Amino acid sequence: MTDEALTSRALELAAEGIGRVSPSPLVGCVIVSADGEIVGEGSYIFSEVTHAEIAALKQAGERARGGTAYVSLEPHAHHGRTPPCTEALVNAGIRRVVCPIEDPNPLVSGKGFEELRVAGVEVVTGILRGAAEKQNEKFICWHRNKRPFVHLKTAMSLDGKTATVSGDSKWITSVEARAEGQRLRYEYDAILVGAQTIAADDPSLTDRTGGPRDRGLLRVVLDSGLRTSGESVIVATAEDHPTLFIAQDPDPAKAEEFRSKGAEVAVVESGPRNPRAVLGELYRRRITSVLVEGGASVAGSFVDSGLVDKFTFFIAPVVIGGNDAPIAVGGDGVERVADVFRLKDITVEHVGPDLMITGYPA
Ligand SMILES: NC(=O)c1ccc[n+]([C@@H]2O[C@H](COP(=O)([O-])OP(=O)(O)OC[C@H]3O[C@@H](n4cnc5c(N)ncnc54)[C@H](OP(=O)(O)O)[C@@H]3O)[C@@H](O)[C@H]2O)c1
Repeated sequence: MTDEALTSRALELAAEGIGRVSPSPLVGCVIVSADGEIVGEGSYIFSEVTHAEIAALKQAGERARGGTAYVSLEPHAHHGRTPPCTEALVNAGIRRVVCPIEDPNPLVSGKGFEELRVAGVEVVTGILRGAAEKQNEKFICWHRNKRPFVHLKTAMSLDGKTATVSGDSKWITSVEARAEGQRLRYEYDAILVGAQTIAADDPSLTDRTGGPRDRGLLRVVLDSGLRTSGESVIVATAEDHPTLFIAQDPDPAKAEEFRSKGAEVAVVESGPRNPRAVLGELYRRRITSVLVEGGASVAGSFVDSGLVDKFTFFIAPVVIGGNDAPIAVGGDGVERVADVFRLKDITVEHVGPDLMITGYPA
């Protein structure tokens, strides 16, 4: 098998940790013996503590000696929750390490590769770099930008509406598209909406995929004055699902009521209308990724601030019409077409009768 195929297998193993590694990265490892046989495989799961390299080396045993390790992210060289993986690779007699990318954490980046080279191990980097960076885009953003990765997801009609003039929005997109939306929730640490979405739809905002997750999906509501009803589904279910209201000037009695029902209330000085301050609050809570699900005002404020890292639009083949029907993205927008927010690396998929368009800011 080629280096590329085995690196691809390491990425596949890393993906087994989706939903189960935050705030750490996804990591997978394949050990190939000196005579070219796969003798060990490992995936990282946060709660199991053991790193992917160690799990794979354990499986390989003595057959690792003289072999190659394919790792999806730079092996760490420092003492963290576990001893350095670089040391374990060297002690196991690994002669060659093939790994697409450096660890994005500026405190350790490059040090793992350096340590391996010093110990006489050949290090090959860069194979499938794009795929490896994409796989760990949340972790990379969290370290490089010191804030969570922001993914804006919206579901709309062909004419860009998210509800009818009367506010009816259930359901514009198909069962298949909504299942895909659930799958997205599974991959994120937090989901975020504005107070008006809670008032209009009274959603539960839960991850109903049933997939294993090490941390419950944190439901975040931006609500300056805590106008959300204490009888809303989100407050009523706060004992069972982590819930955080980000407010500016909440009524103390209402804040106390929410807290007594299991929700957290964080007061942010510059208010939730400042998306950067919202992300700062989430960063302090070690939230590495957030799925922004609307509505238009919240989506607009994140787009206007240039704080969206990824977009997913579900588009149903229906036309809703109505001058006053809610749209997908509000905010200030731009004045000139030359200044529009352009996306790149676009993927277009069919989900049931709907389209799912995903892209990154150009
Ligand atoms: N199809 C979809 O994908 C989808 C998803 C979600 C919602 N929706 C629809 O969207 C509609 C609600 O959208 P909306 O635009 O009226 O309201 P929204 O964006 O859900 O909430 C806006 C409210 O959130 C508060 N807020 C706090 N921080 C904010 C910030 N950084 N940016 C903007 N607002 C902030 C403000 O109230 P305070 O000043 O009181 O804090 C503001 O009035 C509903 O009809 C819902 O059905 C559709």
